[in-house]
Amino acid sequence: MKIAVIQGPNLNMLGVRDQQVYGPMRLEQIHAQMKDFAEQNGIEIEFYQSNLEGEIVDRIQECYGDTDGIIINPAAYTHTSIAIRDAIAAVSLPTIEVHISNIYRREEFRQKSMTAPVCTSSIIGFGPFGYHLAMVGMMQVLSEISALRAAQQGAPQE
Ligand code: DQA
Repeated sequence: MKIAVIQGPNLNMLGVRDQQVYGPMRLEQIHAQMKDFAEQNGIEIEFYQSNLEGEIVDRIQECYGDTDGIIINPAAYTHTSIAIRDAIAAVSLPTIEVHISNIYRREEFRQKSMTAPVCTSSIIGFGPFGYHLAMVGMMQVLSEISALRAAQQGAPQE
């Protein structure tokens, strides 16, 4: 099982930016915890962060045929990017959107996600722990998919 973690703009500034909202943890620490959990569970994991919309689109497209699931925090692009939304829809992989802060308790412009409607699910407002929840959620989603496939393969043909 291979999971791609894709982080949007300014998330490389975690631990420095707006600690009241995002807390003191740095992105490298979040990724180190995710890597530990992945290793313990036999999951291959790759991390990517970009401040550029097109690069995030490219990274999502690269997942097609190569990756089982995507955990993505599109950050500010969540609220604006039709291109990232279309890329997520195009690859059609199980995708979990994460937001560290509770976007629904913040400014009105953050309360709309362009990307959530094309994701499998969203985890919002748990702080950095949300990334751990996303990994547990992804394991569940992927095991349900493989159980379904196995059942379909074992089903008698019409
Ligand atoms: C964020 C919420 C976004 O509104 C914001 O632009 C971010 C981070 C979050 O994780 O809470 O950069 O995605």
